[in-house]
Amino acid sequence: MSPFSFLLHFLLYTTTTHAHKPHRTRLRSSAWGIPGHNATYDYIIIGGGTTGLTLAARLAPLFSVAVIEAGSFHDLDNGNGSVVPFYSLTQQPFTSSDPNYPRQPLIDYDLRSVPLPHANNRTVHYAQAKSLGGCTTHNTMGYLRATVGSHKSWAEISGDPRYEFGQMLKYFKSSVELTPPDWKKRNTPNATFEYDKGAFERKGKGGPVQVSYPAWVDPSVTWFAKAFAREGLPLSQEGFSSGRLEGYSSYIPISVDSRTGERSTARSYLESVLLETEIIVYHRTIGMKINFEGKRAKSVEVDTEGLGYTLSARREIIVSAGVFHSPQILMVSGLGPKEFLERKGIQVVADLPGVGRNLQDQITISLGNGIGTIPTGGGYVGSADPEVQAEILDWYLNEQGGPLSSLGALLSFEKVPERYRSSLSNRTLSLLGTLDDDWPEIEIIGAGGPSEAGNSTLGFLGAVLLRPFSIGNVTIKSDSMKDTPVIDLGWLSDPADKEVLVAAFKRLRQIMNSTVWEEIKLPGDEEIFPGRGVQTDEEILEYIKNSVTTIWHASSTCSMGKAGDEKKGAVVDFAGRVLGGVQGLRVADMSVLPVQLPTHPQGTMYALGEKIAADMLEGR
Ligand SMILES: Cc1cc2nc3c(=O)[nH]c(=O)nc-3n(C[C@H](O)[C@H](O)[C@H](O)COP(=O)(O)OP(=O)(O)OC[C@H]3O[C@@H](n4cnc5c(N)ncnc54)[C@H](O)[C@@H]3O)c2cc1C
Ligand SMILES: *[C@@H]1O[C@H](CO)[C@@H](O)[C@H](O)[C@H]1NC(C)=O
Ligand SMILES: *[C@@H]1O[C@H](CO)[C@@H](O)[C@H](O)[C@H]1NC(C)=O
Ligand SMILES: *[C@@H]1O[C@H](CO)[C@@H](O)[C@H](O)[C@H]1NC(C)=O
Ligand SMILES: *[C@@H]1O[C@H](CO)[C@@H](O)[C@H](O)[C@H]1NC(C)=O
Ligand SMILES: *[C@@H]1O[C@H](CO)[C@@H](O)[C@H](O)[C@H]1NC(C)=O
Ligand SMILES: *[C@@H]1O[C@H](CO)[C@@H](O)[C@H](O)[C@H]1NC(C)=O
Ligand SMILES: *[C@@H]1O[C@H](CO)[C@@H](O)[C@H](O)[C@H]1NC(C)=O
Ligand SMILES: *[C@@H]1O[C@H](CO)[C@@H](O)[C@H](O)[C@H]1NC(C)=O
Repeated sequence: MSPFSFLLHFLLYTTTTHAHKPHRTRLRSSAWGIPGHNATYDYIIIGGGTTGLTLAARLAPLFSVAVIEAGSFHDLDNGNGSVVPFYSLTQQPFTSSDPNYPRQPLIDYDLRSVPLPHANNRTVHYAQAKSLGGCTTHNTMGYLRATVGSHKSWAEISGDPRYEFGQMLKYFKSSVELTPPDWKKRNTPNATFEYDKGAFERKGKGGPVQVSYPAWVDPSVTWFAKAFAREGLPLSQEGFSSGRLEGYSSYIPISVDSRTGERSTARSYLESVLLETEIIVYHRTIGMKINFEGKRAKSVEVDTEGLGYTLSARREIIVSAGVFHSPQILMVSGLGPKEFLERKGIQVVADLPGVGRNLQDQITISLGNGIGTIPTGGGYVGSADPEVQAEILDWYLNEQGGPLSSLGALLSFEKVPERYRSSLSNRTLSLLGTLDDDWPEIEIIGAGGPSEAGNSTLGFLGAVLLRPFSIGNVTIKSDSMKDTPVIDLGWLSDPADKEVLVAAFKRLRQIMNSTVWEEIKLPGDEEIFPGRGVQTDEEILEYIKNSVTTIWHASSTCSMGKAGDEKKGAVVDFAGRVLGGVQGLRVADMSVLPVQLPTHPQGTMYALGEKIAADMLEGR
């Protein structure tokens, strides 16, 4: 190549083509699979959700990849409810766990638990997204990571040091791009926070998922920050993405694209390879059953709105159908507890007793108080004044700011404080004693909302049980994926969880009783729920059983472990490969976490997708 042609090549291809837009090798419309046609690909991924689309995008530049996704596009199926940040709190009422919740069949699976004996036999609806992008189209978008100690446990259980926090950091970084806070837009000098830039910085471009600090600060949150600090929860020095979760961090990043103000989902992974690779997506298509030759996974029977056909894999099939559907499709396909499958009339391919068995769910309790006359995002969005409505809409649409662009909550992490710890039983103390020193036990979430009268603020505090010891399970009614799985969440079945939540409840009351509120308190403001009638430990526990709910972080139904540990419950190895002598089949999603991590998991799922893709590309 002459120097001139080199320069020309450089200018044309490197600068123009690569720097400004992807080199298009096909039309966007060429990416959608045609229903009814049998086809063969190198890899088939069942479930185009958080982890599935991450993996798909990393494999697609090198192999032919097909993604099978039961749902479709959230912007068609859910209006702007999955797009506008504030609406994740108000316009997705179908995420409620009330069994009589308002249904939204285009985007939610309508899953219900069996009656939960330790939670007063309540049956709960468990929101799970049926959509390209999976639960990142439903969730409340908080972006954070787990702790150094919990990652060390993951590395030990799986036998893979690459799960240690320091080594996972490159996968956390390659999945997201952080936009630094826009202080001018936020316009709230009293909302300070520490911000862990180094936890996101990398050479080259960040990942496809966009993460940013809310462009507007809910004033009620600044008061919660003050109350947390007064009651012994200091401001976190590093934010929540550096492997330490201690104290409070105001205004954590959310998965929102700051350029548009819109939610950023796992679909951004798909978009990043749509024009440049041969990836094919079958939407509105259910993976019904995996077919085997001996113990080698060969093909998937799929169903597009009643039309059945078969997609075959030259290399592997990857199951990323989420915490409830991944164990379901394994069982339907003959992988699971042998006696149970035989009782259901399913031909057993591999006896894997751990499939569906190790379900862990972070449960949540809450307390509400009237706390004063501070404006809140909810107050603006809920305002009956048409001028206020027009103003916040314009603010959002044209400046990507204002109450609609933000979520307005404050998070904090701690172990059960000493003053409540002393009343825990020895058994509970010894269970908690197995956790690393840096493993927080309770998360507290503070937020403000409008009171019914509209002239004061409802202060809301929630406590999340970060390390549940109760174990639930997922089984099946039938051998059809068109039936919902049978879900026993096991909530509160371990007494340790009850003790920790009673302590957490007292901690919430302590924060609401902080002298900070005196400065803004209105006369007569008092606890709205559960109310001062709930005082003794027995009364608190009864309130918990009747009101405990989920934060939708369920995990571990196809737990990761070491080869040889199948009888002890291991389902997949460190690279997600199904154990029990099975070949050509992996699982990658929330179901493989061997233990619940003390965080909100979307960031971990993106990193897991990156990590397992790297394993595959390196021949593991
Ligand atoms: C309401 C809600 C709020 C949350 N808030 C937060 C938060 O603020 N921060 C945070 O970090 N995490 C949050 N989470 C949790 C987090 O979003 C999930 O844990 C994570 O996205 C799960 O990723 P996954 O890959 O395991 O599964 P998913 O993302 O659920 O993907 C599974 C995909 O598989 C598809 N699928 C299932 N079965 C089949 C089949 N048979 N055939 C074809 N496709 C199938 C599904 O349609 C889905 O798209 C929240 C979750 C919910 C539901
Ligand atoms: C598709 O594959 C299935 C399973 O191999 C086979 O039974 C069916 O006949 C095939 N359909 C077509 C149209 O080739
Ligand atoms: C969202 O859509 C609804 C109509 O369903 C509309 O009233 C509302 O203004 C929209 N919100 C935004 C922020 O565009
Ligand atoms: C829950 O249901 C079981 C079985 O029907 C019953 O024995 C038990 O008393 C119920 N528990 C409560 C708290 O209602
Ligand atoms: C912080 O500033 C906002 C806006 O100026 C105000 O509404 C709020 O009350 C302040 N918070 C505290 C704790 O002083
Ligand atoms: C709990 O442990 C402490 C110290 O280990 C011991 O003194 C105490 O007797 C134990 N309590 C019970 C109820 O076993
Ligand atoms: C708030 O409004 C309610 C109902 O209009 C009224 O009864 C109450 O006195 C008001 N409180 C304050 C502090 O203004
Ligand atoms: C499922 O969990 C429930 C509640 O913890 C338990 O009673 C039941 O035996 C479990 N079933 C299986 C198959 O593990
Ligand atoms: C609330 O605070 C007051 C003093 O500030 C104290 O007397 C009272 O015991 C506290 N109540 C709770 C539930 O912490």
